[in-house]
Amino acid sequence: MLREGKLVAFATETVYGLGANALDPMAVAKIFAAKQRPHFDPLIVHLSEPKQVTNYVTRLTDEALALCEQFWPGPLTLVLPKKENIPDLVTSGLPNVAIRVPVHQQARELIAAAGVPIAAPSANLFGSVSPTTSQHVLDGLDGRIEAVLEGGSCSIGVESTVIACLPGQPPTLLRPGGLSVEEIEKVIGPVRRLDPSEQSDDSPQAGPGMLSRHYAPNKPIEIVDDLWSFKSNLKVGLLAFGKSQRSDFEVVENISPTGSLVEAAANFFASLRRLEAANIDLILAEIFPNEGLGLALNDRLRRAASK
Ligand code: TXA
Ligand code: MG
Repeated sequence: MLREGKLVAFATETVYGLGANALDPMAVAKIFAAKQRPHFDPLIVHLSEPKQVTNYVTRLTDEALALCEQFWPGPLTLVLPKKENIPDLVTSGLPNVAIRVPVHQQARELIAAAGVPIAAPSANLFGSVSPTTSQHVLDGLDGRIEAVLEGGSCSIGVESTVIACLPGQPPTLLRPGGLSVEEIEKVIGPVRRLDPSEQSDDSPQAGPGMLSRHYAPNKPIEIVDDLWSFKSNLKVGLLAFGKSQRSDFEVVENISPTGSLVEAAANFFASLRRLEAANIDLILAEIFPNEGLGLALNDRLRRAASK
């Protein structure tokens, strides 16, 4: 189906992706249509083997090489200078392409069997919560895509970390994700963080897809530093993390009673979906520790809460 230019959703270790042949602009166009995604938001190209990267990029800096050797296959996406064989639609006209080699075995087998690189954003309608099960994919995209390959629940549960590694520029974090920045900095030293105030929703160059409102549940969400001082007459559902949480809420979804950020990431989007579906007026969440996967979780929370 992929070779015929059709859309197939598949599991990766991060979230489910909505795949199409990355070398076929007509197939790629179907992704944007199915997701109702704006064309200025470029797509990640997925490969089955790290060594294939040189087929699609013109240059690997020393840092880029070190990162692909250390972390591919895995939850890391590198933005690199593209070769001409990557259609402009994939990169929204940018001269760089985002590349990732997933570690999920079924995903790698699918990409290898297709015999082409696979462009794949998260397999959800644009702006809705990312999918971590095949049922989540169908909830949003049933009837709009050809197939979804059953691949179980995603083990990491948040999207890949995106780093730009471009000649003449310091490596730059474009999106915190499933591989912690601490791990990356152990290999290549300090990584530049984009100042969120430098970004605007209509400047693709800064960090496309960093739209302030991106992971949006259909209920208002409020982030608090201190849960104990929160008061409201509304029906509140709590996205809880760790021990000693308040239990005087309509619904409590504890995404890691033991306070593990890894476990929290794996449960995050599914719990957000359950809170969306619950009979409540407001989703309340406490800020996560800003380290490890907490960086990615706080990023997703802030986007979900942004009005
Ligand atoms: O874990 C993941 O990355 C998942 C799975 C399916 O691989 N995919 C995913 O794709 O999250 P998507 O489209 O939801 O997010 C892609 C991110 C966006 O922030 C996008 O703007 C950025 O990567 N990106 C893609 N191409 C880019 C480029 N050429 N330059 C800068 N950023 C790019
Ligand atoms: Mg997405």
